[in-house]
Amino acid sequence: MPLPTTPFAPHGKNENARPVTIPFNQPSVVGRELFYISQAVHKKHLAGDGHFTRRCTDWMEHHFHAQKILLTTSCTAALEIAAILANIQMGDEVILPSFTFAATANAFMRRGATLKFIDIRPDTLNMDERLIEKSITERTKAIVPVHYGGTACAMDTIMSIADKFNLLVIEDAAQGINAHFNGKALGTMGHLGAYSFHETKNISSGEGGALLINDPAFLERAEIVRDQGTTRAKFFRGELEEYNWVDEGSSAIPSEITAAFLYGQLEQTAAITRKRLQIFNYYLKQLAPLQEKNLLTLPTCPQTSTHNGHLFYILTCDNDQRNNLLQHLQANNIQATFHYIPLHNSPKGKSMTNSVNNLPVTEDISARLIRLPLYYELGKDSQDRVLTEIFSYFARQ
Ligand SMILES: Cc1ncc(COP(=O)(O)O)c(C=O)c1O
Repeated sequence: MPLPTTPFAPHGKNENARPVTIPFNQPSVVGRELFYISQAVHKKHLAGDGHFTRRCTDWMEHHFHAQKILLTTSCTAALEIAAILANIQMGDEVILPSFTFAATANAFMRRGATLKFIDIRPDTLNMDERLIEKSITERTKAIVPVHYGGTACAMDTIMSIADKFNLLVIEDAAQGINAHFNGKALGTMGHLGAYSFHETKNISSGEGGALLINDPAFLERAEIVRDQGTTRAKFFRGELEEYNWVDEGSSAIPSEITAAFLYGQLEQTAAITRKRLQIFNYYLKQLAPLQEKNLLTLPTCPQTSTHNGHLFYILTCDNDQRNNLLQHLQANNIQATFHYIPLHNSPKGKSMTNSVNNLPVTEDISARLIRLPLYYELGKDSQDRVLTEIFSYFARQ
């Protein structure tokens, strides 16, 4: 079966020169991040919840029509606070995908929850909403949808199941900033939501996160839990004469330096998303001939969802081909990578006997998936090099 000839220009003149490595991800300074950091330093307020923290949360609440957002030190911290607010206790059951990062599970497991992993959809790689209802028992407390790669889970179905069974929904929107479901920003539809600003995310402050509080019932306690279980925030606003320890909590407040950098990024959200979508769509278009020949499968995004170009994956035909293609790319200095090893199959997951399920789609997808380099400053030359190597791999098969 002849392959389409590679549509990409050859790179470099010296055949023997080793091409520079194309990283999988690379953080960027896109706008006024450094200027804002110097402003934060000059304001003589470096601990959290100052000027730049407010600017970040105001910006997000306005642009994402979110009720209330609190910055946190990570998405993990936001999920941990969410688990406390949801009052997750020993023996409660939490429904989540196995195809996710350990942070999604840890936040609930550490409170004694039983993790009920369910399978994902083969099209979006998100939790399969058709499997939720049959996993619900009288112990079920929460559903945790993870928006993989910024493509939305079926939030309408998930929210109506939650309503029917009186469950909480905590959206893990770590990868979902500025992506939407039926026009609503990811993270704003569940009772609680969480964003990540880790270096690998679209909008980054190195490490960082945010808790979205969409159900006003959690507002007061969220502020307390985030600040060591104290009423200090109220005290700082002049609403109390002294502050007290009133609840469990932790230190999850990022510094003003982090918030200053983050604000510089947030201001550029539209430009960052546009650039990432451009890179995503170029991969999609150029790789289409390989999909037409059934050599690989490309991502799909349902009509209800507008994604944010967080990641670009391809699915090979089988695990051997995935590993061989990865090796080929690595040998050519291209840092492509696999993604989640399903949590139920990881050593920790296997040790939790009551959480193991039969998850054929999760296992299949995990064995065949490759993520390609995608970051704000990825140039067209580099992207063409990635594409050339993928075409050259398949041409040799
Ligand atoms: C789905 C998901 N949840 C949670 C996290 C944790 O985010 P953070 O590193 O900000 O704690 C990540 C990080 O990659 C993630 O991909």
